[in-house]
Amino acid sequence: MRKKDLLTLFDYSTEDIRGILALAAKLKEGRGVSEKRVLSGKTGVMIFEKPSLRTRISFETAIVELGGHPINLASESVGMGIRESIEDVARNLERVVHLIVARTFAHETLTRLAAACSVPVINALTDTSHPCQALAFGLTMQEERGAKRLSVAFVGDGNNVCCSIMALCAKLGHKITITGPKGYEPPAATINICKEICASTGGEVLVTGDPGAAVRDADVIYTDVWTSMGQEAEAGVREKAFGGYQVNAALIARAPKDVMVSHCLPAHRGEEITSDVLDSDASVAYDEAENRLHVQKAVITHLFS
Ligand code: CP
Ligand code: NVA
Repeated sequence: MRKKDLLTLFDYSTEDIRGILALAAKLKEGRGVSEKRVLSGKTGVMIFEKPSLRTRISFETAIVELGGHPINLASESVGMGIRESIEDVARNLERVVHLIVARTFAHETLTRLAAACSVPVINALTDTSHPCQALAFGLTMQEERGAKRLSVAFVGDGNNVCCSIMALCAKLGHKITITGPKGYEPPAATINICKEICASTGGEVLVTGDPGAAVRDADVIYTDVWTSMGQEAEAGVREKAFGGYQVNAALIARAPKDVMVSHCLPAHRGEEITSDVLDSDASVAYDEAENRLHVQKAVITHLFS
């Protein structure tokens, strides 16, 4: 049987995603009891080309709780594509380990790694997507609102996290409205793929420059940093461009009373979100951070079943 990976949510059907979220909810409820030890006697290696707190600890814990042994590799010492080719890294790893979790700059590094090896590869964030984050958001929304069709307002940068949240919404038939400054929208090709998916799921993808209009009927407002890892040189320009797109009390006041707020974290408090909002009762960001563990256990179980 061909091995399975998790590279983007576009490779997964609506049914796969619903199955993973249902399993994640079960694993969360029965933590320590209900896991199938699908990684028993197996090793999972984690390679991070960028910093990480949540992804690293949640994958390491997930691998241990599924009976496996995690190995953390310092990406500088592996030197994918520098010390040796990406394909040679893959061909060596597959001889020793059973699972690869990788956070890379270029998405192509991840797809080349996956194409060159026979063991499952999981996307731990690339420059274009963060599927595990979107699944954690999906689980959090399932806990908060059950099977309701949601209206999601994404305020800010149309980058990796936005694209994966958009993919999740399209697959699950939610409405998503993205609002941010001109020039920082998600790539047109990604928007178009999501719109095509929506034609069969009943979802909707809208893009507007008006944050007030975007949050008017929102069940949840989502945001991410204005300057992502690797874009540090653009920080000054971005801060100016995104100035009108802060998730703050004034924006929340334009949304329905019971609106929720989430963020993939790390947050740059005082930039894309204010502390009063992130720390308010409306915030589900830390629930979502915890849910990374449960969805990743479900993803690994799915890949090894
Ligand atoms: N949200 C997220 O992926 O966090 P880290 O970058 O800390 O892993
Ligand atoms: N967009 C952010 C997400 C971090 C989890 C980044 O890529 O840095």
